Amino acid sequence: MTELRAIVSRISTRERLSTEAARLFAERGYHGTSIGDLAKVLGIQKASIYSHIKGKEDLPAKEVFKNVKTLTDVPATRLLRTMQAFTRSLGVSCTHCHVAEQWDSEEKEEKQVTRDMMAMTRAINDDYLKKIKALEDDKPSVNCFLCHRGHAHAGEELRPPASPAPAR
Ligand code: HEC
Ligand code: HEC
Repeated sequence: MTELRAIVSRISTRERLSTEAARLFAERGYHGTSIGDLAKVLGIQKASIYSHIKGKEDLPAKEVFKNVKTLTDVPATRLLRTMQAFTRSLGVSCTHCHVAEQWDSEEKEEKQVTRDMMAMTRAINDDYLKKIKALEDDKPSVNCFLCHRGHAHAGEELRPPASPAPAR
């Protein structure tokens, strides 16, 4: 168990313990959680991606990765930073959208939804927000976090206040 605790503390100092891992511990406790389970939810394998792109950090993502359709021209490292931003914005781990270690796979629907969300976000910013005159903010924009706020399902934590009981 000490080994597992050590790994957990190492990971959580590097990056906030993902909500999926936290859920796993809540369900099974330290004793019921194997290192394999944890590696799976945290996507520990991602260390290997950084070694995979070594020396190619600044090349366009489409030349470094196998299956990029939206983030084609950003540097490879920026794609990975965007991935990390996704996990924080949605409060999920990499495996919410990916099959672990098969980063190019399209098996999880969340992956294509995310491309559609990127297109939607861009459209809101470029086609709508930019054109609204007289906003106080010079560069108004929305992003994943603004809507998702650390939740996979945008708005799930937001409930309008219950309407007051009708007066009798
Ligand atoms: C909210 C969904 C989502 C999360 C979470 C996510 N990704 Fe991605 N990832 C995508 C999408 C979408 C693409 C494809 C981007 C494109 O088509 O331009 C992608 C592409 C990739 C690729 C390129 C694979 C290839 O060869 O084509 C890698 C590597 C990758 N992600 C790693 C990660 C890592 C590591 C994490 C966790 C830190 C992560 N992703 C978290 C949605 C996600
Ligand atoms: C304008 C608000 C808004 C923005 C910006 C936004 N989303 Fe969403 N997102 C939603 C809504 C609404 C849904 C549908 C409700 C749901 O199922 O979560 C959704 C659903 C999703 C889902 C599917 C959830 C599921 O499991 O069915 C993913 C994945 C997702 N968004 C990722 C992203 C990412 C990544 C970004 C940033 C590129 C983003 N979203 C930006 C509002 C937004």
